[in-house]
Amino acid sequence: RGAAAVAALCTLASLQLAPPAYAAPGAPGHPRYSAGAPGLGDPYFPDQGNGGYDVRHYDIAFRYDPATRRMDATSTITAVATQDLDRFDLDFRGPDISSLKVGEHPASFTRTGQELVVTPRPKLKTGDTFTVQVAYAGTPPVITDPDGSIEGWVPTDDGAFVPGEPQGAPSWFPANDHPTDKATFTFHATVPEGITAVGNGRLVSQKTSGGWTTFLWDSSEPMATYLATVTLGNFTVDRSTTPSGIPVYTAVDPRLVTQSAAAVAKIPDIVEYFSTIFGPYPFGSTGAIIDRAPDVGYALESQTKPIFSSAPGVGTMAHELAHQWYGDSVSLTKWSDIWLNEGFATYASWLWTEHSGGTTAQATFNSGSNYGRAATSSFWQTVTTDPGPVDMFGNVPYNRGAMTLHALRGKIGDAAFFRLVKEWATDHRYGNTDTAAFITHAERVSGMNLTSFFNTWLHQKGKPTTW
Ligand code: ARG
Ligand code: ZN
Repeated sequence: RGAAAVAALCTLASLQLAPPAYAAPGAPGHPRYSAGAPGLGDPYFPDQGNGGYDVRHYDIAFRYDPATRRMDATSTITAVATQDLDRFDLDFRGPDISSLKVGEHPASFTRTGQELVVTPRPKLKTGDTFTVQVAYAGTPPVITDPDGSIEGWVPTDDGAFVPGEPQGAPSWFPANDHPTDKATFTFHATVPEGITAVGNGRLVSQKTSGGWTTFLWDSSEPMATYLATVTLGNFTVDRSTTPSGIPVYTAVDPRLVTQSAAAVAKIPDIVEYFSTIFGPYPFGSTGAIIDRAPDVGYALESQTKPIFSSAPGVGTMAHELAHQWYGDSVSLTKWSDIWLNEGFATYASWLWTEHSGGTTAQATFNSGSNYGRAATSSFWQTVTTDPGPVDMFGNVPYNRGAMTLHALRGKIGDAAFFRLVKEWATDHRYGNTDTAAFITHAERVSGMNLTSFFNTWLHQKGKPTTW
């Protein structure tokens, strides 16, 4: 049949069939192009992430000079179209773009806020695998969060400290910046000789020439964009392995080596202990990056290597390592479920403390920063499953979240509880899930109806009294 006949059929079909209200792909050979959504509608960060495609891999190559704070970068995204696209967005707050190509073809683009709007020509069809190569140069911005804390590309006195939760990644690379679109990553970081650039995953190579060193890091398990880091500076590097053979890479600011020695020394034991209660460590390597970034003031569970902005205690180390299972491997579907990350990591650190001969989890539960808080305290007035963007890293998701797990353990018993947390890590490994799925899972494992338990602990205000 000739092209004209096909075109006539298309016209006929579109006359007879009412077009669907949603952006459905056209039938094969009959693409129906539209723009990918500019955001995924997350309740806390509605513009984060984009519709119309699924990122498979980020290849991020840059040269950065701490003296001038200038970055020269080329980032290449490999993605698959999930609808017929004549336009799509990326999230990007980084410096000026000098060129942008989709596949081999230069593409026009515009920028407003965090949205980088790309017009690919030729257009993309559902199922097409395509690359977006973006070249940019300048100083990546520091991002301020709803709670007033900073993230993104944060310059330090000897390099940069790079946390990305919940919205820092687009500071230094164009991204589909929502935890639901995980991808693998490669980083090629070129820095002045003597500086160490530490990324997620495995160090593939390190080469120096002409006064610059290029570090090639490969993160081959799926990773949410907010967990990506290439933190750089003067670091004392140490490499070892855990008793069960997982490579450990630690990079510590020389000024913090003594203060952080106790926490660093415990990394293998913590990973081993959590592997026994949560199931196998989900990634090919572990470690930590301990830097001096006083303006940041928090730690983050960057995948395979949590980053610390000051010397951590052992409890904080345990918290960030626990996130490798809960948060990094098992990820959120929406930010309002942040207790699934922070409550689990906090409870895991209580368990580690008890395991290592310290305060029991029960005593920590009872303490004044937890259940011991007065019923009149404002602490009890925040709903655990909806703390809001300002308090998503406040006490409630952490402490009420951890209390919820301890109370659940008391309610369903140790056997069911530990089976549940292990299965939760295994069933959702490298995936995304939510509170409703957790409740269903807890009811299945325990054989109990837990509706009122979870209403009391997660969905309602007020200090729980009976459960
Ligand atoms: N998830 C981190 C932790 O608890 C905290 C990140 C805080 N981020 C922020 N922008 N305040 O380990
Ligand atoms: Zn945490």
